[in-house]
Amino acid sequence: MFDEFVNFVRKLYKNLSSIPLHEPSFTGNEKKYLSDVIDSTYVSSVGEKITDFENLISKYTGIEYAVAVVNCTSALHLSLLLSDVKEGSEVLTQSLNFIAGCNAISYCNALPVFIDIDKDSLSMSVNSLKLFFEENCEIRDDGACWNKKSGNKVSACLPMNTYGFPSDAKSLNKICKNYNVPLIEDSAESLGSFVNKKHVGSESLISTLSFNGNKIITTGGGGMILTNNKKLYKKAKHISTTSKISHKWHFNHNQIGYNYRMPNLNAALGIAQFEKLEEFLNKKRTLAMEYHDWGERYGVEFIKDKKNNFSNYWLNCMLLEDISERDKFLKFTNDNKIMTRPSWMPMHKISMYKNCLHSDLSNTNWIHDRLINVPSSPI
Ligand SMILES: Cc1ncc(COP(=O)(O)O)c(C=O)c1O
Repeated sequence: MFDEFVNFVRKLYKNLSSIPLHEPSFTGNEKKYLSDVIDSTYVSSVGEKITDFENLISKYTGIEYAVAVVNCTSALHLSLLLSDVKEGSEVLTQSLNFIAGCNAISYCNALPVFIDIDKDSLSMSVNSLKLFFEENCEIRDDGACWNKKSGNKVSACLPMNTYGFPSDAKSLNKICKNYNVPLIEDSAESLGSFVNKKHVGSESLISTLSFNGNKIITTGGGGMILTNNKKLYKKAKHISTTSKISHKWHFNHNQIGYNYRMPNLNAALGIAQFEKLEEFLNKKRTLAMEYHDWGERYGVEFIKDKKNNFSNYWLNCMLLEDISERDKFLKFTNDNKIMTRPSWMPMHKISMYKNCLHSDLSNTNWIHDRLINVPSSPI
């Protein structure tokens, strides 16, 4: 099967000697819009392209307010601050995760707690979350959710939409609401993914996007905070721009702020990329179907959309027999210049986070032993 896979991927990506996992494609108005911004001299964090880009993403996702920032890590950091995540409190998240979420929790001096995932969505398990709340948590007189065993407040829940596959955010949110815990969705990888025709992130208080070079569209580096809550939107904009009090010439600031605003130059690139989003989505879906057909022929399982979900198929995911087959496959494909990758090291196995509280993580470990990401650039 290994040889057949290499031949198959080589046929898909005809002209490439070395095949990356996901590379950006710049075939539209990127150079023109960048050049316009350079000519305007507004290359930094003030400029109309930033607002234009925010409006495009807000309209596309159907989420009312958007704040463009320098990357998704900063978007996650601000989202946690906006949700009032404080030092020593607990944030429920996934162990099968890119490290940015845990790092953002650490920037707030809060504590990640790992909840298991579901094998079919790769995202936070509704049952596992429910069980964690039932076994550990209570709402106290202050109206907040407290972990009875650790004595810490539970201040937020941060699932992600893994590799573009939507989480069941509606059910997660329902449970979180019962415990007065705000839901923040890390949708870094999932622009263009929908559940029942609603864009991912629509169910949560705040959600975030990444426009890193490896995402479905890129601004070079970039991220976004999305919310339907006007008050949070205003706060996000304020603290992402050094908390400056608006005035024509005076400099004054009314709280600790962050220099996280996306530069106009990056937003211009984002607008040109956004014009290509539908094309990228169509191409990525066609590619995913090719992988699924191949998988059926060779008896290899791929992660597929659940009913009523529409994934952007950011990274296609295959599941192999066990960790030994996974590692042989990784070596064989990478030796043959086809970039494949295992899922991230689960957070509960990373030194900084190995002592964090967690639920049973059987599915997380099972997936980590078997999952491989295969080349997924739109062709
Ligand atoms: C799930 C997830 N969250 C957050 C990030 C961080 O995004 P950025 O690189 O834009 O900070 C990434 C990856 O890049 C990611 O995959």
